Amino acid sequence: MELGCADAQFAFELARQRPERPVVGLEIREKLVEINRRKAIREGLSNLYFGYVNLNVDLDRVFEADEVARFHLLFPDPWFKARHQKRRVLDERLCQTLAQQLRRGGEVHMASDVFEIALDAMEVFESSQVVAMGFLNLAGAWSFSRENPTGIASKREETTLARGQRVWRLRYQWQAPGEEARLAPLL
Ligand SMILES: C[S@@+](CC[C@H](N)C(=O)[O-])C[C@H]1O[C@@H](n2cnc3c(N)ncnc32)[C@H](O)[C@@H]1O
Repeated sequence: MELGCADAQFAFELARQRPERPVVGLEIREKLVEINRRKAIREGLSNLYFGYVNLNVDLDRVFEADEVARFHLLFPDPWFKARHQKRRVLDERLCQTLAQQLRRGGEVHMASDVFEIALDAMEVFESSQVVAMGFLNLAGAWSFSRENPTGIASKREETTLARGQRVWRLRYQWQAPGEEARLAPLL
């Protein structure tokens, strides 16, 4: 699932590489959702779906419990969650929704070219409330990940790297609270 997919370069490539897997792109700009849908039909990608969704309002109604293997939150805008804290991309409430919809061993993969946004997100994930939900930093507590779990770059990742800028990456695995052992990441 790509959250805030824009032109969905990432979701398209993932769907092409994994035809046996459903891939979903969610986006708040309706026109882009329509363009992406038509493009997916033209390409014959029957495993690729798009939804017109405001993530901060609707996500808890998009997926069932235990349904999602991986959420990709790639280069979200600073104004993603505008009301109280302009910079903050995700909050405890969104983490609760992600935890509910992830399968055991599933993952949240987030990337940003803005250090402060990535650090804010890490602060949320490392808070005691969110750790108690079952999120575990795959790079170790308070550490950024170097590795893109898919090897696929979104449009924004491509432009960031082309400019020689750093990608700040977070990978958090979810396991049901109380289950001790770390699970092998889902493929
Ligand atoms: C900077 S773009 C990144 C696009 C793509 N993920 C990439 O890495 O190239 C962020 C996208 O998130 C979308 N977005 C922002 N707030 C959103 C929200 N509340 N719900 C859904 N999408 C949102 C924006 O419309 C925009 O297309």
